[in-house]
Amino acid sequence: MESITIELARQTDIPYMLELWQDTPGVGLGPGDDEISLTAFMQRNPTTCLVLKYQDSIIGTVLGGFDGRRGYIYHLVVHKDFRRQGYGKKLLQEAVKQLKALKADKIHLFVLKTNPEVEGFYEKQGWIKRKDIEIFSFNAKDKGEEE
Ligand SMILES: CC(C)(COP(=O)(O)OP(=O)(O)OC[C@H]1O[C@@H](n2cnc3c(N)ncnc32)[C@H](O)[C@@H]1OP(=O)(O)O)[C@@H](O)C(=O)NCCC(=O)NCCS
Repeated sequence: MESITIELARQTDIPYMLELWQDTPGVGLGPGDDEISLTAFMQRNPTTCLVLKYQDSIIGTVLGGFDGRRGYIYHLVVHKDFRRQGYGKKLLQEAVKQLKALKADKIHLFVLKTNPEVEGFYEKQGWIKRKDIEIFSFNAKDKGEEE
């Protein structure tokens, strides 16, 4: 479709991005997925957070983040009515291009174990499923507030 564009995400897009994620099984929402945190994330990563737009509606997203050492991809989503038309690939490629421009030579992403359907997509794009790493997480906010 001609009028579908990839654009930099703006703060005013956030409520619509959240709506899309809430409607999409496979997207793990957690701390960081609220207006304040997402605004901060987008300010820190002004070139790597993208939306896919069709007639002013947000039909896709990807958040790229760079911590100075590694790049990360979060919330790659294409609305179900627009899948399998190459947009997921384009969003991912653009986010990777922008992360590479920041010198993020290695990029990671997380896939929920409840969402194995997506693995084939990433493998097709050349991503490698790691078998040598386990993820450990620490809820720093909760612990810090106890002190
Ligand atoms: C993953 C997702 C973004 C893919 O978007 P999409 O626009 O449908 O993907 P594309 O059309 O760009 O697909 C690119 C290629 O991958 C293939 N592909 C797409 N989804 C696939 C899947 N689930 N399994 C295997 N291959 C897949 C396509 O056939 C296409 O192959 P081709 O290049 O040989 O033609 C989309 O399925 C989605 O939003 N899923 C729900 C949200 C989600 O789980 N996100 C990931 C969170 S980690």
